[in-house]
Amino acid sequence: MKILVTGGLGFIGSHTVCELLKENYEVVVADNLSNSSIDVIDKIKTITGKEIVFYNCDVCIEESLEEIFKKEQIDAVIHFAAYKAVGESVSNPIMYYENNLISTIKVCKVMKKYNVKRFVFSSSATVYGSPKTLPIKEDFPLSTTNPYGTTKLMNEKILEDICLSDSDFSVVILRYFNPIGAHESGLIGENPKGIPNNLMPYIVRVANKELKELSVFGNDYNTHDGTGVRDYIHVVDLAKGHIKAIEKATNSTGVNIYNLGTGTGYSVLDLVETFKKVNNIDVPYKIVDRRPGDIAECYADPTKAYEELGWKAELGIEDMCKDSYNFILKQNKK
Ligand code: UFG
Repeated sequence: MKILVTGGLGFIGSHTVCELLKENYEVVVADNLSNSSIDVIDKIKTITGKEIVFYNCDVCIEESLEEIFKKEQIDAVIHFAAYKAVGESVSNPIMYYENNLISTIKVCKVMKKYNVKRFVFSSSATVYGSPKTLPIKEDFPLSTTNPYGTTKLMNEKILEDICLSDSDFSVVILRYFNPIGAHESGLIGENPKGIPNNLMPYIVRVANKELKELSVFGNDYNTHDGTGVRDYIHVVDLAKGHIKAIEKATNSTGVNIYNLGTGTGYSVLDLVETFKKVNNIDVPYKIVDRRPGDIAECYADPTKAYEELGWKAELGIEDMCKDSYNFILKQNKK
């Protein structure tokens, strides 16, 4: 079976490509390198011993996509390619709506033309807005607080409408919680350009003395230590969820939606302390004001993914902290 992975050189995409190759899928990657590096292709080969077919392609451009579908016999698509920075989406909403909506529309349009009807979509727990109760189930009310989140929700709606119009179409929507960690080889991982927005990439840079100290955004939330609680999930576990999603998309029609999280919440300080302990390194921090738009707590009820996909997260917070740091150490040794 041949899978087109858009954004397949990115953080979650590259780990998913490795899992697909491990499971003997053929993989075609379309990535425009806007937030990824061409070196990842070689790293994937080192990890898996297998080759991918790569297209340097902006999936918003229909003609470029058509090239791929003409040449390759694609059976299913996993669509990662998207912008993902919340703050940037607030300051540049047009860029986010254009890129994140047009890409999905074009991919689906070309899929329809070439009669490909299996689609896995990268969504986010951000579509739950500020949940009234926890843990979060897939049928909770949906709302968003920023353009990035709105693009995810709008894409979900577009995909539902496509399935309503075509009873052979199959879409699996995966709502990710907070992916961190890296491949155990240390060859692929998350290395954002510039100053990181997310917690783990920031912690890693502080540990590595590239940044002075972590700012902890608020310690007056109603949580066990006052700092924000999230459901951190190892990116390799998340990647494995995509294999199950492809199987589901192959064996069903219509829309199926799953939370991919561990079901356990950890606070900012839990993560910092675990990171310090497992890596035996200091992470200086200071408490600052809350970050606007943040919620106190967010963690998944992942039962549906377990019952229907047979998937559950296997790796713990210590593995996540170890692997995140190992990746950066390996990067710096080059
Ligand atoms: N935090 C800090 N200091 C930092 C960065 C983050 O204290 O420098 C705190 C935040 O306040 C929050 C926690 O760490 O409590 C996690 O923050 P992240 O920015 O790492 O992640 P978010 O939960 O805010 O957002 C992430 C993704 C979004 C996605 C969302 C889904 O970045 O794309 O999860 O819930 F939509």
